[in-house]
Amino acid sequence: MRIGIYPGSFDPVTLGHLDIIKRSAKLVDKLIIGVLNNSKKVPVFTNQERKEMIETVAADIPNVEVDYFTGLLVDFAKEKQADVIFRGLRAVSDFEYELQIAQLNRTLRPELDTVFLAASVEHAYLSSSLVREIAQYRGDISSLVPEELIPIVERKYQEILSKT
Ligand code: PNS
Repeated sequence: MRIGIYPGSFDPVTLGHLDIIKRSAKLVDKLIIGVLNNSKKVPVFTNQERKEMIETVAADIPNVEVDYFTGLLVDFAKEKQADVIFRGLRAVSDFEYELQIAQLNRTLRPELDTVFLAASVEHAYLSSSLVREIAQYRGDISSLVPEELIPIVERKYQEILSKT
């Protein structure tokens, strides 16, 4: 059985992520989406919120499961007996950083390969940080995140703004 990992912060999951999830899931028997729980980078959405949002949008893909991870990606991949890591590439600007991580991960665990999927053209500009920025200023995020998540993201920013 081929197991793949698609790691990320998913703060929040975007239409670009969902595209990579769907395409990666077709290439393996099981795809585990690894939601980074990193103490250095405090996310806007809690671990549980990020996990639940992915579970919601990937509910109709039978071979996908979602889990958190802390620490090194290679250790999480080992624990999950994964053979391959998937990452999406939007532009050349992503490449340098992603290549460095992929090479580092292969140094740490040579049997683990990274497969890059080219982002679909319509998602090339899309990132979680842009979604957060637009949501913060009450902009229209309907072309950026899956439809079911629009009220969740908007509610989160209403909560945040009501506290400031
Ligand atoms: O969605 P992101 O924030 O671009 O995802 C980055 C991620 C989670 C793939 C990367 O930060 C990661 O793998 N972090 C885990 C820690 C680790 O393994 N570090 C060594 C390689 S950077």
